[in-house]
Amino acid sequence: MGNPIKNVAVVGGSGNLGRAAVSELVDAGFTVTVLTREGSTATFPARVVSKAVDYTSVGSLTSALEGQDALVSTIATVAIAAQKPLVDAAVAAGVRRIIPSEFGINTRFLGKEPIGTILQGKIQTLNYIHEKSKQNPLFTWTGVSTGLFFDWGLPHGSIGLDKATKTATIYDSGDEPYQASNLPHIGKAIAAILKHPEVTTNRYISIASFNPTQNQVLALAEKLTGEKWTVDHLPSSEQQKIGSEKLSKGDYSAFSNFLKKRVYGDGAGLAVSGPDNALDLLGLEEDDLEKSLREWLAE
Ligand SMILES: NC(=O)c1ccc[n+]([C@@H]2O[C@H](COP(=O)([O-])OP(=O)(O)OC[C@H]3O[C@@H](n4cnc5c(N)ncnc54)[C@H](OP(=O)(O)O)[C@@H]3O)[C@@H](O)[C@H]2O)c1
Repeated sequence: MGNPIKNVAVVGGSGNLGRAAVSELVDAGFTVTVLTREGSTATFPARVVSKAVDYTSVGSLTSALEGQDALVSTIATVAIAAQKPLVDAAVAAGVRRIIPSEFGINTRFLGKEPIGTILQGKIQTLNYIHEKSKQNPLFTWTGVSTGLFFDWGLPHGSIGLDKATKTATIYDSGDEPYQASNLPHIGKAIAAILKHPEVTTNRYISIASFNPTQNQVLALAEKLTGEKWTVDHLPSSEQQKIGSEKLSKGDYSAFSNFLKKRVYGDGAGLAVSGPDNALDLLGLEEDDLEKSLREWLAE
């Protein structure tokens, strides 16, 4: 890939994942520029340059990306389908590696599942990037699947624990291991990809900070709080049904219902361990599950 990557632009650097990515990129020694919407009130660390852009204008984006070696998009889910001008600008500005706003389930393996309807913005963006990289071999990409955001998901309910009421929601048996990642760990993975871009050129990788089962997470929460938690058992098939009903009415909040079936359902088979977990490839180690839970419980 030639010269090392030095200058990195981050889109959505004020967001949940973006803040962690910016911080880890700065710590890894990259020169970071954050692109932000015109009128955004976001603020950034002192060492980070921010540039206001118009995401509908290839010209505005191209001048903001001049001199950047890599572009990391952590843009909000609602804006994902509108990244085409950003990709065109990255190519025009000579950006050598793009990491698009994926960071969830592996969108390359969705088959005809209904959740794929909701993820079309990610799928089409990556298809477009793939086409552009075939036309411009110097423009390369890495896609990253992270599974559930674990540290972010604890207070947001997606991990199924409510610490205020000490209640856990467990889907099916609770024994299915699932792919999960902490935001700083994803930031470290992004930095590692850009330190050694050659190992992930035009590749979609999956990473996991750990692959716990719901029952393991519950047992740890009980151990750390020294109390038995109330457990609500729900069938994941019901979530699929609720999701389909919502989607038929155009309600994209169906995503969280589909996700529960897809991630937690018995037989899901989505854990990424051993050589499937690209942490090894990136020179990173797994995170400490118990520590992650302890930190959240102490907040
Ligand atoms: N795996 C999981 O559990 C999980 C959970 C949540 C999200 N994700 C994924 O992670 C990626 C990043 O999500 P996130 O939650 O970190 O993003 P976010 O915090 O919701 O938004 C990131 C940034 O996007 C920028 N932005 C640009 N256009 C926008 C628009 N039209 N509306 C709102 N913000 C806009 C904003 O920055 P400025 O104000 O500076 O422009 C915002 O701070 C997405 O691909 C998302 O699907 C995964």
